[in-house]
Amino acid sequence: MCGIIAYTGQQPAAPILTAGLKRLEYRGYDSSGITVSARKRLRTWKSVGKLSALQASLPDTISGNCGIGHTRWATHGAPSDINAHPHTDTAESISLVHNGIIENADRLRDRLRDAGIQPVSDTDSEVLVHLLAMARREHAFTLIEAVRHVLRQIVGTYGIAAISNDQPDTIALARSGSPVIIGIGDGEMLAASDMSVLSRHTSEVVHLDDGEVAELTPAGFTVTTMDALPTDKASMTLSDNLNEYDKGGHTHFLYREISDQPETVARTISGRLDTRFNTAKLGGLNLQARDLLKLKRIKILGCGSALYAGLAGANLIETLSRIPSDAEAAAEFRYRNPVIEPDTLYIVVSQSGETFDTLAATREIQRKGGFVLGIVNSVGSTIAREVNGGIYMHAGPEVSVASTKAYTSMLSVFALLAILLGRTRDISPQRGSQLLMELQSVPEKLSTVLALESQIETIAKTYCHCQSAFFVGRTSAYPVALEGAQKLKEISYIHAEAYPASELKHGPLALVSKDTPCVIILPESDLLAKSIGSLEEIKARGAPVIVVTDSSQERIDKLADHVIRVPGADPLVQGLIMGVPLQLLAYHCALALGRDVDQPRNLAKSVTVE
Ligand code: F6R
Repeated sequence: MCGIIAYTGQQPAAPILTAGLKRLEYRGYDSSGITVSARKRLRTWKSVGKLSALQASLPDTISGNCGIGHTRWATHGAPSDINAHPHTDTAESISLVHNGIIENADRLRDRLRDAGIQPVSDTDSEVLVHLLAMARREHAFTLIEAVRHVLRQIVGTYGIAAISNDQPDTIALARSGSPVIIGIGDGEMLAASDMSVLSRHTSEVVHLDDGEVAELTPAGFTVTTMDALPTDKASMTLSDNLNEYDKGGHTHFLYREISDQPETVARTISGRLDTRFNTAKLGGLNLQARDLLKLKRIKILGCGSALYAGLAGANLIETLSRIPSDAEAAAEFRYRNPVIEPDTLYIVVSQSGETFDTLAATREIQRKGGFVLGIVNSVGSTIAREVNGGIYMHAGPEVSVASTKAYTSMLSVFALLAILLGRTRDISPQRGSQLLMELQSVPEKLSTVLALESQIETIAKTYCHCQSAFFVGRTSAYPVALEGAQKLKEISYIHAEAYPASELKHGPLALVSKDTPCVIILPESDLLAKSIGSLEEIKARGAPVIVVTDSSQERIDKLADHVIRVPGADPLVQGLIMGVPLQLLAYHCALALGRDVDQPRNLAKSVTVE
């Protein structure tokens, strides 16, 4: 997804901007560009493709201590040099980068044409820069005044940074729906759409809220409303560990993040196990035991892997607390005009804390009076700031586009929450104590699973050339299957579908053949015999079968072509443990096929547009 970086200070801006763009690469992009301001002149370089193409086009030295940069992920207009940001007005007096979508761009473009201005790109963003230049010409506005004036005409979402040739060390910023964070340095100021860019320069940051406009100079910043009223902004101190933004000696971020899971899960549960009362301690809930007792329903919302984690979470919570729980895609939920109930706990799940649909669902629920709890990884993100109560995942920054360690941390948080809600209702102290021990044993069990890598790599190399694969699971194993199929398709581009085992005979069996490997998730449970029945059904159609199980039943070994045997565990954490071999399977398939595992095609790390 598009990324923004801006710098004003004493140092040459260009190297800071390009290093910032490098940091933003992980979000996914198709073109990039920078503008640097020097001696009352704006100079812009843009290039389609990888950042290396932009870097190759830059002169050895670029003077100027103020500038903006952007990585673009095409929405309006194909990836091209012209459509890349920054965009400049015809006189090259203003340069602007924009994240988000201008919904009334066509109407604004007509207005520009009527004024004799012809935008050169196909982007919605370019209209903004021409409108800014026009406003300055007509009203003699400063840059920030022009920004306020123009943004009043905009329908849509934006995070913007703009500079002008006549205010050479000033950057104007604005936010509505797309993140902008200010980084406070010593005699220098930065801004970015992503914390990862700022953390190498400063640990003091300020998040802009929707409807705010900011002006940066090397000496400081001011934040105001659209009506130019000052807003009180407190800075926060970043706790990001910079080491987590490197590959830790591995070839890919994805591999590092898969390998780190024993530690990240340990971090998620650390300090949250209350062994005195055999329950979980979750400080940021903003709900008392009395409130928890009144709950009649739990509704979990998220997108992609966060949704699949939510489906697993709903299962855990309902099983342990007997509170009816379910999960739904955040966008579907908000668009179907849902009934919001006072005794329902709404839980939104998001690694980035910036996913547009999840944020929009949060706001829709709150607008109707509902209480929203956030399970978020990114500290200080928009969702984390807007929810009524929250639980941080503490998984550390996730850089690879495909979610792995954040996913297992989401499941760990759901396990904690299920214990807490269960202990307020159905679960005895003795059972609570067992569950805490199960949770504590997860990091070690994950290390055992990671040690199965060479077996999984061999399986991946055997089947990576297949056109299509099925993932099958029953009840609690179904979300594991969904996430396994998601991982395989997103990084290896092999078509993969997940089905509840019981649904196979209602359609998908028609496609099961010797060419469709089937991954079956078989947790030890009272449904095991039924699931082995599904295995037989699949085997009878000649499909190669890979089983992930913690059961020692010999029948499984007789029927399956490959058995990935993971440590036995309570249903509370079985799904979490069984998901990890599927991450390794996807990783090794993708690697064998030569895919870009960290930045898969067409995907972005943080989807801040609709
Ligand atoms: C899959 C993946 C996406 C995200 C989804 C939600 O590996 O990364 O499906 O899970 O875009 O993102 P967050 O969790 O940031 O809201």
